[in-house]
This record gives sequence, C-alpha cells and structure tokens, in this order.
Amino acid sequence: MGLLRSLVLCTLAACCMARSPPQPPLPLKPRGCNDSDVLAVSGLALQEINRNQKDGYVLSLNRVHDAWEYPQADQGSLFYLTLDVLETGCHVLSKKAWKDCRERTFYQSVYGQCKAIFHINKPRRVLYLPAYNCTLRPVTRRKILFMCPDCPVPVRMDPSNLKVLEAATESLAKYNNESPSKQYSLVKVTKASSQWVVGPAYFVEYLVKESPCSKSQTTCSPQPSDSEPVGLCQGSLTKTPDKTFVSVTCDFFEPQNQVPGGKTSAVDQTSVKLPKENTAPASPHYKPSPSGSVQHLPDLDDEMSEDSQAQNLPEAFPVRLDLTTNPWGEDLDLSFLYIGPDEGKLTVLPFPRKSQHDRCPGPAKDTRPLVLPP
Ligand SMILES: *[C@@H]1O[C@H](CO)[C@@H](O)[C@H](O)[C@H]1NC(C)=O
Ligand SMILES: *[C@@H]1O[C@H](CO)[C@@H](O)[C@H](O)[C@H]1NC(C)=O
Repeated sequence: MGLLRSLVLCTLAACCMARSPPQPPLPLKPRGCNDSDVLAVSGLALQEINRNQKDGYVLSLNRVHDAWEYPQADQGSLFYLTLDVLETGCHVLSKKAWKDCRERTFYQSVYGQCKAIFHINKPRRVLYLPAYNCTLRPVTRRKILFMCPDCPVPVRMDPSNLKVLEAATESLAKYNNESPSKQYSLVKVTKASSQWVVGPAYFVEYLVKESPCSKSQTTCSPQPSDSEPVGLCQGSLTKTPDKTFVSVTCDFFEPQNQVPGGKTSAVDQTSVKLPKENTAPASPHYKPSPSGSVQHLPDLDDEMSEDSQAQNLPEAFPVRLDLTTNPWGEDLDLSFLYIGPDEGKLTVLPFPRKSQHDRCPGPAKDTRPLVLPP
C-alpha cells in the first residue's frame, strides 16, 4: 500500500512537472564585439544578407556594433548582431564575397546598420540566418563639400534625370561601338554623381544586359525580353564649351554555377571552425531564404531640412527586427535544418537593446566618423 501510494505520488509529480509552465528563457549573454567567434558569425551573416539581395551593392562589415548570444538547450545558439556596414563597388548580382569587394571612396560612401539573427549549432554543423534588416544612407553632401569642395557629389536617383540618363546611354554607346560583336543595352542606372570641371561632368553606374542584336547581324536573334543583367558599367560624360568626353568600363558577372534544383548551398562554412565529422551536415535539404530587406534612406541633412518644423531629429539608422515582441519569447521552428524529429525547435526573444559591453562597438576598419553610425 505504502509502495503503491508513493508510486502514485511519483507519477503525479512527474505529470505535474511535465505540465508546469515552461522555464523562463536563459538570459541573453552580451558578447564582446571583437571576439573571434562573434566576428566570424558576423561575417557569415553579412555574406548571407548579400546573397539574399537582388538589388543594390554588396555590403562589407566595417565593425560589429553590438552582439548578444542566446544559448539554446542542446540546440546551439542564436546570435543577435548589430553590424555597421559600408557599401562596396560590387553589385550583389556579381555574387562576389564582401571580402573581395572594395569600399567606395568617401565622397561616394553609403553606410549604415544591419540587424541580424543568426543560428549556429557547431556540433550539428548548422549555420543559418533566419532574418535580417538593414538601413543605409549616403554620406551627407554637406560633409563631402566641407572636406573636399571639388569632389563629385551624389545625384539623387531620379529616373527622370535626363543628364544622368544621357551619361549612361552615351557611355554605353561608346562601349558598344568598341565591342567587336556583342552589344549591350541599359537595364538601369544604379548610381550617379556630378562634378563641375570646366563644364558639368556626370558619373554613372548602370546594369546592362545582352542585346539580342550583334554588330554584324542585320537581324536580331530572339531573346527573352526579361533577360538578366550580365554586368555593371561605369561611365562618365563631361562637357566643356568645345568638347565632350566620354569614358566607360564594364565588369561582367561570373556565370553562377547552378546547383541542380536551383538552390545554391547555404553558408560557406570555412570561416567558422566546425568539428570535423564523418557525418554530413545535418541540413542537406531545401532551406527557405532568410526574410529581410535593405532600406535606402536619404542623406541625413536632407531629411532634417524637410522635417525642420518638427524639433525632433530623425533617427539616424532605424532598423527593426522583431521576430517576436513577447518578452518570454516565442518558438522558432528551424526543424527543416535538421533530420532528427525533436531538433530545430528554438526559442527566439525580442531583439535586445544595446548592451553596455565594454568591448562594443568593436574596432572599425574605416574609423572616420563620417561613415560610422552613432
Ligand atoms: C524589417 O523592416 C521592414 C521595413 O522597415 C519591416 O516592415 C519588417 O517588419 C522588418 N522585419 C522584421 C522581422 O522586423
Ligand atoms: C581585436 O582582436 C585582435 C585579435 O584578437 C587584437 O589583435 C586586437 O588588438 C583587438 N582590438 C581591440 C580594439 O580590442
């Protein structure tokens, strides 16, 4: 009888334990922004952000602004990263790695901040970026002119700007004229700046696609009208009272090796040390693309003058990344990354506010205040 009762009590206790409310989430750990694993994870997160973009330029990591780690019981960690980034000269369609791209000169700089949530599970060899968001702004014209009164200044991108369009079409005509056979047509202008030399000078960057007409042919081969951009050209058009100068160079994208099935591999795993195992990575399957976007905002000075009525300054780099707003967290299902039935059930917490970690922000590659978000 005594034995039976204690058995019943035991069962009840087990049952109650199982139904007791979930444990509060383990606290987020603030991480040093110069820690080697934080830097490696940040580099991978940015690589995935670039890979996911269809438009704009590859972003490079200038510094880690803030970092938190949220360890998950036997499921690795979620990292919450705030990254200060710089635009490079490579278009995202080139699929170049950010480390292989050069940042722009200061008068062309576009800089900003990304927030990213990154999952890493070293023993299971899983790396995955579920979500990100970035905000970018050009360096203000006022600061450019203050530092360098003769430098070219960015021209606001406006499709109806005929001067910009003229610079693009004239320079592309020059390229086509010098091209032995293949001809290219303009997809869109992606960047423009202007400068007064002895007359107005316009500098443009634009995407091109192959034109169905080659030089020697009188007829044009049929080609889908929605063909992809194949390269990025830089051109300039300078007018002086008695002469016009045109320059052009084009950079063609390397053809991408399409993995059968259309999906390229997930993250390049070389920059994070994963254990060497005979087992294949746990995630051979299809992975949904991360969700996120890169938002382009105007020059901060422009925004302030437009908003001069309101006394409050605009937020310099507003970036939201809210997978949840529940302070107790919410389930994040990443089971598609794993094979086991109970794997990949994570908890995500609201994106934490800035840590007061004494090693954050980390050291910057480009330390000029001009390109560092506050
Ligand atoms: C990312 O930013 C966009 C635009 O600001 C916003 O609508 C979206 O909710 C953000 N994503 C997340 C996960 O917070
Ligand atoms: C960052 O880490 C590197 C390598 O560990 C070290 O050489 C460098 O001094 C650190 N920089 C700062 C500002 O702590």
